[in-house]
Amino acid sequence: MKILVTGGTGYIGSHTVVELQQQDYEVIIIDNLSNSRAEIANQIAKITGIKPTLEVFDLTDKQKTKAFFKKHHDLSGVIHFAASKAVGESVEKPLMYYANNLGSLINVLEGMIENDIQNFVFSSSCTVYGQPDVLPVSEEAPIKPAESPYGNTKQIAEEILKDTIKVSNVKAIALRYFNPIGAHESAEIGELPQGVPNNLVPYITQTAKGIRDFLRVWGDDYNTPDGTAVRDYIHVVDLAKAHVVAIRRMLENKMKNDFEVFNLGTGTGYSVLDVIKAFERVTGTKLNYKVMERREGDIEKVWADPTYSNTELGWKAEKGLDVMMDSAWKWELRYRKNLMK
Ligand code: UD1
Repeated sequence: MKILVTGGTGYIGSHTVVELQQQDYEVIIIDNLSNSRAEIANQIAKITGIKPTLEVFDLTDKQKTKAFFKKHHDLSGVIHFAASKAVGESVEKPLMYYANNLGSLINVLEGMIENDIQNFVFSSSCTVYGQPDVLPVSEEAPIKPAESPYGNTKQIAEEILKDTIKVSNVKAIALRYFNPIGAHESAEIGELPQGVPNNLVPYITQTAKGIRDFLRVWGDDYNTPDGTAVRDYIHVVDLAKAHVVAIRRMLENKMKNDFEVFNLGTGTGYSVLDVIKAFERVTGTKLNYKVMERREGDIEKVWADPTYSNTELGWKAEKGLDVMMDSAWKWELRYRKNLMK
């Protein structure tokens, strides 16, 4: 079974490639390396013993995408990660986000339809729920107006998929991620933030390493137990495994509808201070932090109701916050030492 993983050298993509290979799928990666590096294919090989094929081009290039699918018309499925994901940047450059995230999706779907490739797994986000009225948030919760062009690309992409499956043989599963963190236990792959990280955990590990002076905790006046914002952090390897389950579900014709949506979260919410405390405890490293004003666009609290994913996919997040922190720290140490040149 040959699976195309777009964005397969990226953070979640690379962990998914490992899980696919370990379940004996043959993997082809397409990546434009805009936010990753070609060496990741070698890192993957260190874990699995198999170097995935990597084709470097941009999926917004219609002709190249078309030619790729013509050549690989025997693909069993596509897992589509390739997209830009920085919320702030999307506010600055909305057209770039719409052109990139939606243009590449459209080209991939056209390539699939032209070659009768039917199975598509999409990398969506819990950002589609905004600040939900009811917690935990299930797949039934209403979609809220997007806070950013990035969030809007995820919503529009789901709409594009819904419309496309009505008029083609394509079937799609949208996986709505909560907050993926951590790294592979081997510390061969992990998140590679460019410049100053926006996300919490890379900022924590870089601060502990002495690369940043202190972590800014964005607000402690939220209506939460300790006043800091609450999220559902999920280990990236648990998340990656869900993609293998999803593609297998499609290949085994187990879908209930041609478009399905699943929440990928643990069901437990942790505050920013909970995450900091876990990091300090697990790594024995004291973290400098200062409480600041709230960050614009942040929501107060969100965590998943993963019941439907647990029962229907037979998938469950297994790794707890301590494992997430430990693996993120090992990756930071290893990455700085061996991969940053
Ligand atoms: C963000 C995006 C989300 C995206 C996800 C992964 C927003 C509103 N949402 O989620 O759409 O899918 O990243 O890229 O941007 N925090 C600090 N200090 C920091 C960094 C973060 O206190 O230096 C806090 C935040 O206020 C938040 C929590 O840590 O409460 C998690 O933040 P982050 O890792 O950036 O993820 P989200 O904002 O939840």
